[in-house]
Amino acid sequence: MDALTRSLPTWSAAEFGRRLEAQRRGTLVQFAAWDAGVPIGRAHVLFPGHEQWSISAHRCRCVEVRDVFVAPEHRRRGAATAMMDVVERAVSDGGLLRIGLSVAQDEDGAAARALYERLGYEFAHGPYIGGATIPGDDGPIHFAAVLAYLTKEL
Ligand SMILES: CC(C)(COP(=O)(O)OP(=O)(O)OC[C@H]1O[C@@H](n2cnc3c(N)ncnc32)[C@H](O)[C@@H]1OP(=O)(O)O)[C@@H](O)C(=O)NCCC(=O)NCCS
Repeated sequence: MDALTRSLPTWSAAEFGRRLEAQRRGTLVQFAAWDAGVPIGRAHVLFPGHEQWSISAHRCRCVEVRDVFVAPEHRRRGAATAMMDVVERAVSDGGLLRIGLSVAQDEDGAAARALYERLGYEFAHGPYIGGATIPGDDGPIHFAAVLAYLTKEL
C-alpha cells in the first residue's frame, strides 16, 4: 500500500487504505503491475456489497474493473494488457463469467477504448452520464463524464 501510494498517487492519500479495508471485507481486490520492484500500474475489481457497486454492473450481472491506470512513462509497453490478463484470470478462477467496465467517450478515453477493444470487450449499453463523488484529501471531489459500458465473457 505504501509503495502504491508513493508511486501511483490517486485523488486521496487515504484511498489505498480504504481499498485495503474493502479487500479485507471481500468486496474489492486491488491489482498492481510492477517493474523492478516499483508499482507502475493499478486496477481493482469490485464485487456486490461494495458502496460504489454500480447500476451497470448490477444490470449486466458482472464484476467490475475500475481505475485502470499505467504511469505515463511506462505506457505502450503492454503493462495494462498484462494486468488485465491477470485480472481476468483471477476473476474466472473465482468462478465468475463476466467482467464489465465503463469507459469515457471523449478524447481522454481514446487510449482505454483502443485497449479494451483489442482485449475483446464489447459494447453493452450507453452512452450515459456517470457521476460520482469521491473523498479527496481537501473534501469531496465531484466527477462526471459521458461513458459507455463494456463487458467481456470470460
Ligand atoms: C489506457 C491505459 C491504461 C493503457 O495502458 P498501457 O500500458 O499503455 O496499454 P498497453 O501497452 O497494454 O496497450 C495495449 C494496446 O492498447 C491500445 N492502446 C493503448 N494506448 C493507446 C493509445 N494511447 N492510443 C491508441 N491505442 C492505444 C493499443 O492497441 C495497444 O497496443 P500497441 O501498443 O501494440 O499498439 C493508459 O494509457 C492509461 O493509464 N491512461 C490513463 C488512464 C485511463 O484512461 N484509464 C482507463 C480508465 S477506463
